[in-house]
Amino acid sequence: MKKYSLLTKTPVDIGTGYDNYIMAIETSCDETACAVVKNGREVIANVVASQIKTHAQYGGVIPEIAAREHLESINFVIEQAFYQSGLKPEEISAFAGTVGPGLVGSLLVGLNAAKTLALVNDKPFIGVNHLNAHLCANYIDTDLKPPFMALLVSGGHTQIIDVKSYTEQTILGETIDDAVGEAYDKVARLIGLPYPGGPMLDKLAQQGNPHAFKLPEAKVDGYNFSFSGLKTAVLRLVKSFDKDSMPVNDICASFQETVSSTLVKKLKRALEEKGYKQVVVAGGVAANSEIRRKVFDLEKEGYRVNAPAMKYCTDNAAMVASCAYFNENTFDDVNVEVFSRVK
Ligand code: KG4
Ligand code: ZN
Repeated sequence: MKKYSLLTKTPVDIGTGYDNYIMAIETSCDETACAVVKNGREVIANVVASQIKTHAQYGGVIPEIAAREHLESINFVIEQAFYQSGLKPEEISAFAGTVGPGLVGSLLVGLNAAKTLALVNDKPFIGVNHLNAHLCANYIDTDLKPPFMALLVSGGHTQIIDVKSYTEQTILGETIDDAVGEAYDKVARLIGLPYPGGPMLDKLAQQGNPHAFKLPEAKVDGYNFSFSGLKTAVLRLVKSFDKDSMPVNDICASFQETVSSTLVKKLKRALEEKGYKQVVVAGGVAANSEIRRKVFDLEKEGYRVNAPAMKYCTDNAAMVASCAYFNENTFDDVNVEVFSRVK
């Protein structure tokens, strides 16, 4: 595909056999990230400044504080990415930035930095959808090609996506209430774990009995999901114990078992219906040990399974650069505005 530099309109070939290097910036939530990716698959710089410590004090992400921290870190992560890559700005083929969905104040910081870099260096600008970027994390360090079925599980989204080609995707189903990551974080808070609860809940679950408690699996039509009933059931269970005698590990393990089996059951049904032989998992919750294990179990049934390396599951800019390279559904107009929700 051809992109054009912003000022002199010089054509730049993206993905047509020329080596190209895309620098991307991601600031949709609480990670300030910059990366350089060669030809969509090879990461040559990857820098992530996490704000988790700041937000942990408040038990969740405070948007105004997140935006201010992005401002403080943005120049540093860009400098570090240039340093790691060994490239000069003129050697970068195009600059990409996340447009949405995410926190508006946070998105503005990264997107404006990406637009500025493109303008100053007279290179193409590529605006990227954060959810598409999570999917594209699967192209990093692999030779994966569509078509495949994808399970996208993050802090804000839970979707089964039919990825027909690099640019053509259909959402087959999604959550009608809480996203999986949100459910993890809320249940973790009920149990008294610090923010972000997901990874810690996962750790405790690995030490518990997944069949200790029978929790309800929501019956939702088609490929849609619902996790709010499960969250309420955990709340009831937690309240039935004294704080000191609560079997925390077993509660975590039972919750994790219910979530992972619900997700993978529907994913398998979608695979069978479409007759695909490849399946991927993506998004921050793709780092979850049990969800990964159950999805990789599909290999025993003859499917090719892929999951991004852990560092490319949670928010990062390498996935944004990969998406800018592969997905033609980008927002290439330098005047594109940030957006908070899925369009
Ligand atoms: O994709 P992501 O970094 O941000 C969004 O785009 O939303 O996902 C963050 C979410 C948080 O809810 C976090 O608790 C969850 O991913 N998460 C996990 C694990 N690692 C991260 N949830 C369960 N198990 C994990 N190992
Ligand atoms: Zn994300």
